[in-house]
Amino acid sequence: MHVTLRQIEVFQSVARHLSYTRAAEELYLSQPAVSMQIKQLEGNLGLALFEQLGKKIYLTEAGQEFYNYSRLVSQQLDEAEAVLEDLKGVTRGRLAVSVASTANYFATRLLAAFARRHPDITISLDVTNRESLLHQLDANETDLVIMGKPPEQIDLETEAFAENPLVIIAAPKHALASKKNIPLKKLQQETFVVRESGSGTRIAMERFFSEQGAELTTGMEMTSNEAIKQAVEAGLGLGIVSIHTLELELEAKRLKILDAESFPILRHWYVVYRQGKRLSPVAKAFREFVLTEAPKLLGSFSK
Ligand code: PGA
Repeated sequence: MHVTLRQIEVFQSVARHLSYTRAAEELYLSQPAVSMQIKQLEGNLGLALFEQLGKKIYLTEAGQEFYNYSRLVSQQLDEAEAVLEDLKGVTRGRLAVSVASTANYFATRLLAAFARRHPDITISLDVTNRESLLHQLDANETDLVIMGKPPEQIDLETEAFAENPLVIIAAPKHALASKKNIPLKKLQQETFVVRESGSGTRIAMERFFSEQGAELTTGMEMTSNEAIKQAVEAGLGLGIVSIHTLELELEAKRLKILDAESFPILRHWYVVYRQGKRLSPVAKAFREFVLTEAPKLLGSFSK
């Protein structure tokens, strides 16, 4: 088998996206270059890895098998890289961090402070929602993740480092903005602008309402905290967001946190990686940094 690592890299990208175009974008290649690599790989293996049905491409059975093995190959290589990095120490290396969109409000500041301490480290940051963070962990595509509590059924190393209170926000002129201890009954009559399904914030708010036996009326759905805050400010409804997303709006008095019964919903932030993953010295150092510095950045913390 004359398979090259480059062919494997291209194959994995096409298999992940099931698209030659998106693989070409991800790898900064032209689409014909991607097709050529796949053709050569298929030639080397003597089997088709993809099949085209209509406009979509799919992995063939051989493609799926090869994908599973190719991932083991890349994981071994990553591990070898981590072991070699270990020998070099924390001064240089690469760090891939993925954070929940809600955590990005403080994670960028943490990364900046860490980068000042270790100027020769190359850091890549991906900001995305909970669901795709869980995919990345499953596919071993990232070193460390900062997110809300991950599900227990997945084999992960997790450590909580700060509270993450979810609060109800309203426009300052909203009828409930100046009320005290607003009962859940009242909130049931309101419409909430919500995050997309797949967001940790959305899952937590839905769980909260159903645990309280309360009905939640959802209005528009938005894929970012910024969009939610603007919609709430524009009077499209109430919103539920992490208090860590609100620094600027509270300071400028553009939004108000409602004083509502049973709120805030108390969650925690976690630093997470795959069980059994061999963290590079850089990743270990960043994890330590998050555990000691983030609580200071985010204020008081009790587990
Ligand atoms: P998000 O939040 O997915 O709503 O951005 C992260 C989390 O709470 O896990």
